[in-house]
Amino acid sequence: MRYLRWLSIEAKIFNVGSYRRANTPKPTADFFDTTNPEGERLRRAAAEAAVDDMIKWFAADGGVIAILDATNSTKARRRWIRDRCSAEGIETLFVESKCDDQKLIKSNITEVKTTSPDYVGQDPEVAVQDFLNRIRNYEKVYQTIDSDEEGYTYIQLIDVGKHCIINQIRDYLESRVVYYLMNLHIKPRSIWLSRHGESEYNLVGKIGGDSNISPRGEAYARALPGLVKKSAGDRKLTLWTSTYRRTSQTAHYLDYEKLEWKALDEIDSGICDGLTYQEIEEQFPEDFKARDEDKYNYRYRGGESYRDVVIRLEPIIMEIERSENIMIIAHQAVVRCIYAYFMNVPQDQSPWMEVPLHTLIKLTPKAYSTYEERFPANIPAVSTFRERGSSARLN
Ligand code: SIN
Repeated sequence: MRYLRWLSIEAKIFNVGSYRRANTPKPTADFFDTTNPEGERLRRAAAEAAVDDMIKWFAADGGVIAILDATNSTKARRRWIRDRCSAEGIETLFVESKCDDQKLIKSNITEVKTTSPDYVGQDPEVAVQDFLNRIRNYEKVYQTIDSDEEGYTYIQLIDVGKHCIINQIRDYLESRVVYYLMNLHIKPRSIWLSRHGESEYNLVGKIGGDSNISPRGEAYARALPGLVKKSAGDRKLTLWTSTYRRTSQTAHYLDYEKLEWKALDEIDSGICDGLTYQEIEEQFPEDFKARDEDKYNYRYRGGESYRDVVIRLEPIIMEIERSENIMIIAHQAVVRCIYAYFMNVPQDQSPWMEVPLHTLIKLTPKAYSTYEERFPANIPAVSTFRERGSSARLN
């Protein structure tokens, strides 16, 4: 959902477990035994309520992709979902994640399920055992998706993407979703983000350009190896920078494999490149106002908008998802866009986020959210943050 929304595709999750919790907040494994008629009735009611809401959402809220998060592990259940959707003109893409690797199953339960609301406050060992029993109950009726389900569009991910089967992908959007899912992995990893050290342009309040880092920026570059070591230890990282001098100068003392990406270059400010915010307000007052009104969509004349930057960052996001530990040294707008993807920040807020210079941000994706830590280098730098409605920087 985060990925789709980041790409401006209206998406929403309908989690059948959350609907079921309305009637059965803390079930034990026997609730999921298909010979338990009360359990079956309540589970069916939860699935129906989720599907009803999902269909309403498509019609009333302009939904594009709904994620119906549920086990749906019998052919009959999948047929029911497909029939209900096609009656409303909604196409279905089934995603089956199939895993027989007991070690992976156990670590996934420990990581994801023991923090689920179903097990809040319970001994994690008891929770793991109960969830394993729940799986045994699911297995009694489980039918894998296969080519008997004629005409179904699906992707089957086996052992978290070691092997993938795709069937009947019909259009661009489906192929994007499939490609994204094929690139995900669940190995523990982090992403480190930093802006370049303070630049000569930052000192005089100019945007854009390709200036060198200032003496304080150089001090940050020298401090970075220690800062990274503090948060990454001896982990192997790959370091990505933009093609501008200020990012490669900031990366200079870091002893990791390095890669330059044009896609990480700062937002192109077109005719405003090299101007201060005050000069932009004086010379292009209408542009200045339009940008304040809708900063995400405003495109600098001859340059880019935040929306354009997100589009060019999409391959970067895909590559981050495929990779393990990555550190990125880039620019204010670019760091905001990457951060917004991981932290699920809406488009009207992401261009206004404060991302200070001389601060290392560590993001660690977890099952349902991303954990953030910040490591300030405590090396002074100007603030480049400008509030909405002002042409002044903070200091
Ligand atoms: C649940 O009730 O937690 C799971 C429901 C489902 O996956 O069908």
